[in-house]
Amino acid sequence: MSNRISQIKSLVKNECFNLGFIDNWFYGVHLLGVEKFAKVLFKKMSKADKEIVLLGVWLHDLQRVRGIKGDHAKMGAIEAEKVMRQFNYPEKTIKHVKEIILAHSCDTCLMPETLEGKILASADAMAHYVNDFYLTIAVTGAVTGERDLVSFKKWALEKLDKDYNRKIFFDFAKKMIEKRHKALKEVFTMK
Ligand SMILES: [Fe+2]
Ligand SMILES: [Fe+2]
Repeated sequence: MSNRISQIKSLVKNECFNLGFIDNWFYGVHLLGVEKFAKVLFKKMSKADKEIVLLGVWLHDLQRVRGIKGDHAKMGAIEAEKVMRQFNYPEKTIKHVKEIILAHSCDTCLMPETLEGKILASADAMAHYVNDFYLTIAVTGAVTGERDLVSFKKWALEKLDKDYNRKIFFDFAKKMIEKRHKALKEVFTMK
C-alpha cells in the first residue's frame, strides 16, 4: 500500500471513531470489508489501477463519516476531493476518484463506467455479505432509523437485491457471494 493510502486510511479511521457522526461499527464492519473485497477483486484484474480503487475505498463514504447533509455520493465526492488535494494527488487522479465515488451507489441514472468504478461498487456491496452487517443494522436501527422488524426486513431484502443484481459487476464475484445472498434472503423471508 502506498504511503499516501496508509495515511488516508488512518485519517478516515480516526474520523470514524472521533468525529462522532458515525457509529463505531462502521469502520470495522463496513470500510475494512470494502477494502478486503477490493483487494480480492483487483488481484484478479491486473489492469485495474489499485491506487484509484483504494482511494475510492477510503473516501467513498466520507459524507457519512463527516456527517454532511445532502446527497450521499455528491457530498462524498466533494469531501474526497479535499482530502486528495491535501495529499497532492494529480488532477487526473482526483477526477477519476470523484467519478467512481459519484457512481458507487449505482442509483438509476449513474452507474460506474470504469473498471475501478465497477470494482468499488462491487466491493461496497460484497462487504454487506460478511461479518455482522445486517445484524448490526437490525439491532442498532442504524440506516433504517428504527428497530421495527417488518420495515427492517423490507429494507434488507431491497438492499440484498440491489447489491447482488446492480452493484456486483463480475460473474466470479457474484459466485463468491451467491450462497450468502440466498441464505440471507431465506432468513428475511422465513414464514
Ligand atoms: Fe456509500
Ligand atoms: Fe460504502
